[in-house]
Amino acid sequence: MSILITGGAGFIGSHFVRLMVNQGRQVVVLDKLTYAGNLENLKDIVENSKTSKLFKLYKGDICNQELVEHIFSSENIDTIVNFAAESHVDRSILSASAFIDTDMKGVFVLLEASKRFGIKKFIQISTDEVYGTAHSGAFKETDALNPSNPYSASKAGGDRLAYAYWVTYKLPIIITRASNNYGAYQYPEKFIPLFITNAIEDRKLPLYGDGRQVRDWVHVEDHCAAIDFLMACGKDGEVYNIGGGNERYNVDVANLIIDELKKPKTLIEHVKDREGHDRRYALDCAKLAALGWKPKIKFENGIRDTIKWYINNQAWWKRIKNGEFMEYYNRQYSHRFAPAKS
Ligand code: NAD
Ligand code: DAU
Repeated sequence: MSILITGGAGFIGSHFVRLMVNQGRQVVVLDKLTYAGNLENLKDIVENSKTSKLFKLYKGDICNQELVEHIFSSENIDTIVNFAAESHVDRSILSASAFIDTDMKGVFVLLEASKRFGIKKFIQISTDEVYGTAHSGAFKETDALNPSNPYSASKAGGDRLAYAYWVTYKLPIIITRASNNYGAYQYPEKFIPLFITNAIEDRKLPLYGDGRQVRDWVHVEDHCAAIDFLMACGKDGEVYNIGGGNERYNVDVANLIIDELKKPKTLIEHVKDREGHDRRYALDCAKLAALGWKPKIKFENGIRDTIKWYINNQAWWKRIKNGEFMEYYNRQYSHRFAPAKS
């Protein structure tokens, strides 16, 4: 039997594909290869004769019912892990349409096909953003959802739709809500890789507002290990938080990156804040811990390795940081930065 990994050419999806093929699992990837999808993330798998025979790629859209049904009917799929999504909050603020399509309608198409073909396990990759800002304490899986930007609202739609298919049709669903991921192969629009790559290039680091927003960082390999664990040990119909236990102020993460790269602090520029910016994310992960899983990678070690990866893989991100990326970057940041002094 095969596992269908949607969004397998993206950041987290490609790490999960690697984990699966290294365990000898047969993997089918369905990926639209949007700006964020990158076959270079899977190069080591495709070029290795041992892993390449365990891997098959379909380039296509999870909203395409015909294609999804074709894959289900021809590929012996028993498990689906749905990573496919539009994933960047700032882009959803600029334009939400693709988020509604992929993060809601796409989930619907996958659920319908899974019901029709009798899939044994459907893992919906949701996010801690569906809870909204944590004013105090940490969110439990049973807490109310309060998403506050178009990305998190569309993810909440997919999350609840998946749950509805469990309650209504007993489709074996598990929903995961992870905190902020970091690690190799993350598209440089996101905070950590943007700041690392800008600092390497001696460009300004655009820190939103006062920089005192808090995120809980989980290493992407820990996140993938948790999903793998839940495929075996999670209970159908349940939601599981996956956090890293590493709550940090953004400004502290920015300073850590600057220090590690031995760059001047003056590269950090406080810029106009993100609209509707969630102040703090925090997860209570007792439910997952009670099953026997905890993250292994300490943030200070993980971030050092991540910085090294971006230093050693400049061709990977320099190919990305042109064309479409620069268009987006200018649209997102040009009005935020103070004009350069002449
Ligand atoms: P990413 O943007 O790096 O990758 C998304 C992948 O999905 C890309 O390969 C893209 O081509 C593909 N894709 C987009 N639309 C598609 C469509 N319509 N059909 C098929 N493929 C499509 O995202 P990521 O950071 O790897 O996130 C993966 C998943 O994890 C998302 O569902 C996201 O909401 C969730 N998540 C991310 C984080 C994080 O910190 N990055 C944290 C928690 C949850
Ligand atoms: O919490 C999980 C979520 O984490 C995932 O569901 C999303 O897919 C993922 O993108 C991420 O969302 P965030 O909005 O938290 O991540 P981002 O990397 O965009 O920003 C992290 C923090 O850094 C946030 O407080 C905003 C801030 N930031 C971000 C950028 C891009 C800046 O200060 N400057 C920036 O240029």
